[in-house]
Amino acid sequence: MKKKITLPVTGFDPVPSLTQYAQVAVRVVRSAPPDADAVGIPVAEDGAVPKALGLDRATLAAAGFDGKVGQALLVPKADGPLLVAVGVGKANRADASALRDAAAAFARAAAKGTHLATSLPDAGRVKPEVAAQAVVEGMVSLVTIAERGRAATAGAERGRTLATAGALARDLANAPPKHLTAEGIASVARRVGKQAGLAVEVFDKDAIARLELGGLLGVNAGSVEPPRVVRMTYRPKGKSSGHLILVGKGLTYDSGGINIKPRDPMHAVMKMDMSGAGAVLAAMSALPALGVKATVTGYLMCTDNMPSGSAMKMGDVLTQRGGRTIEINNTDAEGRLALADGLVLAVEQKPDAVVNIGTLTGACMLALGDQIAGVFANNQRLAEQVKAAAARTDESVWQLPLDKRYRKQLESNVADMENMGDAAPGAITAALYLAEFVGDTPWAHLDICGPMQVTADESWRSRGATGFGARLLAELAAGFAPPKR
Ligand code: BES
Ligand code: MN
Ligand code: ZN
Repeated sequence: MKKKITLPVTGFDPVPSLTQYAQVAVRVVRSAPPDADAVGIPVAEDGAVPKALGLDRATLAAAGFDGKVGQALLVPKADGPLLVAVGVGKANRADASALRDAAAAFARAAAKGTHLATSLPDAGRVKPEVAAQAVVEGMVSLVTIAERGRAATAGAERGRTLATAGALARDLANAPPKHLTAEGIASVARRVGKQAGLAVEVFDKDAIARLELGGLLGVNAGSVEPPRVVRMTYRPKGKSSGHLILVGKGLTYDSGGINIKPRDPMHAVMKMDMSGAGAVLAAMSALPALGVKATVTGYLMCTDNMPSGSAMKMGDVLTQRGGRTIEINNTDAEGRLALADGLVLAVEQKPDAVVNIGTLTGACMLALGDQIAGVFANNQRLAEQVKAAAARTDESVWQLPLDKRYRKQLESNVADMENMGDAAPGAITAALYLAEFVGDTPWAHLDICGPMQVTADESWRSRGATGFGARLLAELAAGFAPPKR
């Protein structure tokens, strides 16, 4: 037996948003507050420049500002708050995504301020509550929005809730693997559950063994850190409109195991291999404030994947919950092993739908790049709900085929299945693997390998982990209707 050594991990807060964002406040007022550090002034590409800016179009153009979305020009004043010209594109044409991006550009430009204020642009087609929500999502700071009306207030509050969830998911994925072990995720979930009013159950290694989660235990076999399964439950106040279950891949570090990853840059981002679980945890945290009408259960499947004398080996056979036997032909195809046990637990609860999310395959990233997640589904109505939520939050997804012709790549000589197929359709065979465990329960699978991180700041995505999926899943829950089978 290895002796477990605990390194001191004090003096560094791995999840600052847990404390920091509790203090974020959004106010909706009639005019720009005098105590703001910076005031954003929306400026379109055409039409009049708002008088409050005190500059004409020629002066703005000379400074390289023409009102495109993403532009923000600092205009210091001798007295009063810093003014910021914020590009919003063609007059009255901005949609929610453009407003979110414009707000993000403002927040970045005014990063020194802690109290930001902005008026909402006249965004023709966008309702005030949607505009206010998008603007606050893009800023994530103490903001005051100069706009009257209860709709803007409600939208701003929604934006605050969703931005907070996005920030939490980002923090979790950025947290170092030593600071955020499987136990660490469980303790964050407990804390968040208490704050938000969710039921949280944590299953330790013994409980996981009793549940016969052979996939998760196999992935964990090489580690000195015990695994955890976390179940978070949200129940609506009134009558429930349906039951949605979310399952997240929570690999706190994926070394590849015995099939160790051969390149350092890959290792460097594998602390983010729990991004799926982070997105589920963060989405769950938002449900009470959003007043979601459905019952929502979240499963976080947490462990790391390490090589050692006790690690699972190629050729080993595991038994997933429910009895399917799996021949391991690559220890680095571990996400599906951890998720499949979660899917079986989920389906046993007889929900109306199950959605899983995780950083599953490099193949999906090769297909869709770092902007777009892959989505697979065995039910088109559910797929459409996922796409609609993704469009609302500007977390892009593209549906890929669950094509049965590749299923034979998972056939094994000695067990029911192997855990890996050929390289090229790798995203599809991962999805086909998972599909085996959901039967005819409506199910969708999000492969977020690509968009889990960005290497430079860009619109509302800040360098590092993006928190992709947290807002999407919260919006999905908020709009959820049991899909017809
Ligand atoms: N966590 C990785 C996928 C990944 C790669 C996430 C890059 C984020 C960035 C996953 O567990 C993995 O190792 N997938 C393998 C699957 C293969 C062995 C079938 C892959 O994509 O190479
Ligand atoms: Mn892997
Ligand atoms: Zn992985």
